[in-house]
Amino acid sequence: MTTIDLIRQRRDGEVQSRAAFDALCAGARDGTIPDYQLSAWLMAAYLRPLTPSETADLTLAMAESGTRIPMAGLPRPWLDKHSTGGVGDKMTLLLGPLFAACGLTTVKLSGRGLGITGGTIDKLESIPGFQTQLSVEALRDQANRIGFALGAQTQDLAPADRVLYALRDVTATIESIPLITASILSKKIAGGCDHLVLDVKYGRGAFMPTFDAARALAASLRTVGTAAGLRVRTLVTDMDEPLGAAVGNALEVAEAHALLRHPDAADPRGQRLLTLANRIAVEALTLTGTPVPEAESRVETALRTGAAHAKFTAWITEQGGDLSRLPIAAYQTPILAETAGTVTEIDPAQIAGAVVALGGGRATKADVIRPEVGAILHVSRGDQVRIGDPLLTVHSAHPIDAHPIASAAAWRAGFQIVPGGVPAERPLATVVTD
Ligand code: URA
Repeated sequence: MTTIDLIRQRRDGEVQSRAAFDALCAGARDGTIPDYQLSAWLMAAYLRPLTPSETADLTLAMAESGTRIPMAGLPRPWLDKHSTGGVGDKMTLLLGPLFAACGLTTVKLSGRGLGITGGTIDKLESIPGFQTQLSVEALRDQANRIGFALGAQTQDLAPADRVLYALRDVTATIESIPLITASILSKKIAGGCDHLVLDVKYGRGAFMPTFDAARALAASLRTVGTAAGLRVRTLVTDMDEPLGAAVGNALEVAEAHALLRHPDAADPRGQRLLTLANRIAVEALTLTGTPVPEAESRVETALRTGAAHAKFTAWITEQGGDLSRLPIAAYQTPILAETAGTVTEIDPAQIAGAVVALGGGRATKADVIRPEVGAILHVSRGDQVRIGDPLLTVHSAHPIDAHPIASAAAWRAGFQIVPGGVPAERPLATVVTD
């Protein structure tokens, strides 16, 4: 079968075989299919969406285009989690140790952030000394001893996805649910897990703008993941406001650490984050066969007894990090309310956009992050504020006064404050079962 046949089959809506996807992925990986033909196939796939069974075949072909982390020999169950990303989403920092404290084994490969949603590797690299370039043997050894290891995605993990994803980015073919599904799941399968919890976020701070769009992606991930041999649980979660109080790399690490250390002292933003972590951890345990009451009690015990905190410090220390040397911003500027009323909305995109503008995230792949930059929220939706009350504190390397995108007015624009207002009800998390 020639590459032109592969494109023609897709263009004409014919069912494509696993062998066809293997040929496509080998050509993408080896560079033997030129970008213009891969791009033509991608546009055909965008216009003629893959069926769930084709998507499962493409997923496996992409996963098998590179190496797979061997989990054999590590204590079962092997679980991974994936979030589609959001503002203040430091969930992996909480869940990796929490899973380990609950008896699950997780080897996780994470990426960097671009734009308003941060990447776990960037967050962890804000900890002086923390190593993210771990060999497969080192990841396995650490996961065997403490239950959790996390490294940066390597070049040989689903290499066909890397090529196809880069082309999708520049050919207006990102927004295809089957292609997104195959892209996400191929990396997870190559990462070695057999159980997977997926947190699909929706809202202004997420990749999927609406609940319905996120739900459609969640359902596709569940169907295709199952067809590809994984046990999958998918949740759709709210990203229409920042998750937790901290947005910014070192600040998010500090927040996760403080919440695991003193969960009872969490402020309302921290409590919301812990509620979601708790929910996802219970779903993970039940997915691996633990009955609901036992799962709930294990998660609660791991948090309340300090077992999850002990796993967190063991993990960071194992990977060389020194939490006592987290960078601290030179300037900390409170942003005060200029209106009295109820906080009805906190726009995650506006807050994260200002953090990126101050150097706390990347606008382009080449940007260098300032890890100490970010913001700490002091209010939640539904809070009453008076004029002069602090809304958030900006952590920056330079004074923010003259900054066009991160001025006090820009931060304030992230808050909708309405006298007598009532914030709309939104569920924090919904499990998708179809
Ligand atoms: N994340 C991925 O890894 N792939 C996509 O296609 C979209 C989001």
